[in-house]
Amino acid sequence: MSDVDRVIAEYENTGSLSKADVEFLLSLEDEKDLQKLFSQANEVRERNVGGEVHLRGIIEFSNYCSRACLYCGISRHNRGLARYRMDTEEILETAEQAVSMGFRTIVLQSGEDPFFTTSIIAGLVSEIKAMDVAVTLSVGERSREDYAAWKKAGADRYLLKFETSDPELYRRLRPGCSLVQRLECLYQLRDLDYEVGSGIMVGLPGQTLASIADDIFLMRKLGLSMAGIGPFIPHPATPLASCPAGTASLTLKVLAVTRLLLPWANLPSTTALGSIDKEGRREGLLAGANVLMLNLTPLKYRRLYEIYPAKAEAEDDPASLKAAAVELVTRLGRRVSSGYGEGKKGVRIEN
Ligand code: 5AD
Repeated sequence: MSDVDRVIAEYENTGSLSKADVEFLLSLEDEKDLQKLFSQANEVRERNVGGEVHLRGIIEFSNYCSRACLYCGISRHNRGLARYRMDTEEILETAEQAVSMGFRTIVLQSGEDPFFTTSIIAGLVSEIKAMDVAVTLSVGERSREDYAAWKKAGADRYLLKFETSDPELYRRLRPGCSLVQRLECLYQLRDLDYEVGSGIMVGLPGQTLASIADDIFLMRKLGLSMAGIGPFIPHPATPLASCPAGTASLTLKVLAVTRLLLPWANLPSTTALGSIDKEGRREGLLAGANVLMLNLTPLKYRRLYEIYPAKAEAEDDPASLKAAAVELVTRLGRRVSSGYGEGKKGVRIEN
């Protein structure tokens, strides 16, 4: 029995992996070994969340951001970037259009933009909920009161990546922020009964395989409904411009191991993965992923929401994006889900 076979057999027996096993899986390079890992993740995905792929429509409604994250192209320090805010009417029209195209989840995402007050966002949520879809918010760290108000307005899910579980690296990359504060937000969201999504970037400067293993165990401990895993892609207008990008290969390994340790979770095959490798999204769907997030931001704004360069889908209209996603899913012998694609909430882990 090879080492990979042994680790996979151990996983099948216990439903868990040791940290050493995770690091071992993340260090695989041999093509045959990688195929074993990916097909195990694919099987675990099939057994736990089935063959359906959920499509989410994202509207990036403001690129104003009060944060200064070293990796991010819409950091407040990027003075060269034209800033935009969609108005309420435009956001609702975009959502309406998405719903009429069959999207059952609308994701509202923005930089951390205090212009959008508690009540503006609550208003958007309740109007979009009235269209009979699930609503995901991804607008950063806000007060517990805000999170509670938006839940009351009907929000179903909240997406807030912790990016790295290494507190030092976190502090370096996100000046003025702390991992503790981030986790506090995630616990509040869980207590408020949101379906909580989080996740990480792979290949951050200074990140190690051991720290990625910790990231995966933290995602498991948080009992996330959803976990987004994408490669770090250096943006030329940031302090990390000259750092190497994360690789598709490592990202796929992290995704696969995450599927093994969070078998219940909704895992997107991310836009970032599709941006560094044109087969990335397909490979992600074959390595444990069951969600595709499609960018429905009106074309005139889309290029301005450049958190990293050469973002996939920068030019395509919603109809062609959806057609391409359906084609991809069908080609893999899977189905596009017609439901809301809700995740399990606040899963508690025994081991
Ligand atoms: N490369 C890849 N992903 C990035 N994000 C932000 N900046 C980058 C980058 N340079 C991701 C983060 C954030 C999400 C909105 O985009 O994970 O949570």
